Amino acid sequence: MIVNPTYKDNMEKQKIILDCDPGHDDAVAIMLAGKNPAIDVLGITIVAGNQTLEKTTKNALNICQYLDLNIPVYPGCGRPMIREQMIAADIHGVTGLDGTHFEPLTKKSENKHAVQFIIDTLMASDGDITLVSTGPLTNYAMALRLEPAITTKIKQFVLMGGSYQLGNVTPAAEFNIIADADAAHVVFTLGRKIVMIGLDVTRKVLCYPSIVERMGKLNNKASKLFIDLMNFYNHSQKEVFGLDGGPLHDPVTIAYLIDQSVVTTKAMYTEIDIRSTQSYGRTNCDYFGYLKKEPNSFVGIDIDVDKFWDIIENGMKIY
Ligand code: RIB
Ligand code: CA
Repeated sequence: MIVNPTYKDNMEKQKIILDCDPGHDDAVAIMLAGKNPAIDVLGITIVAGNQTLEKTTKNALNICQYLDLNIPVYPGCGRPMIREQMIAADIHGVTGLDGTHFEPLTKKSENKHAVQFIIDTLMASDGDITLVSTGPLTNYAMALRLEPAITTKIKQFVLMGGSYQLGNVTPAAEFNIIADADAAHVVFTLGRKIVMIGLDVTRKVLCYPSIVERMGKLNNKASKLFIDLMNFYNHSQKEVFGLDGGPLHDPVTIAYLIDQSVVTTKAMYTEIDIRSTQSYGRTNCDYFGYLKKEPNSFVGIDIDVDKFWDIIENGMKIY
């Protein structure tokens, strides 16, 4: 029986590994977590997703260098466990972070592979590390296959992915899950606590021009990056989805860690569809408990939008 995740207030730093595929919204998640007093980012691990591994790694290094984040960056898996790779260049551009401009990159990625870093860090821990994911789950799944003993060392997963309603790649499936549905299957059948931040809540935090203007008034390095990121991201979200503001998916995971009350979750049994064609990659969330199966996840069903933007603004003030 898994219980609703609880944690002390901001007095207790939460240790996390942030696995991501920067990506414009991943960049905001890194910004939000990077200097937050409530969070200790042990490492940023990189996965192919929005763009190729080479590009997502370079983007993470550039973000950390620009924001002066002394956090190690570990390149990970360059393609899904089994299926062919898919990327999201239509949303994030050729570089994966189009619209941004950085000084020449001097920060280097670590030599250790992300999967090995995940294993080594968890095995050396007291079981107090949260695995955050804002991209495909390949690195975490591969770590679990390489060293199953890490299972009991995982405090919880807090992941941006899936939806109990509509997808954003197909009618059924969300990008982070469908991009490596087999990896998602490994995670969702593990039996460890999962907080699933899906499109159902992230599509409610749309970065309208008024939000960009609000954050721009901070007039610091974080807000300058935020404006560059959102100007491109909002344009592509308008082109692809007809939205007037881009949904800021990934930072919701970090906002949840900073203030759990920002997201309302509901315990559900969730299964990843890795068998069908039309619905391949869907997170089948048993919202009404039809299957009478033990819930294996806490799925986001609502978000306090005003509180979320306050968290984002406060997170950028730190820089
Ligand atoms: O479906 C949204 C997710 O896919 C986000 O994490 C975005 O960065 C992309 O990875
Ligand atoms: Ca992402």
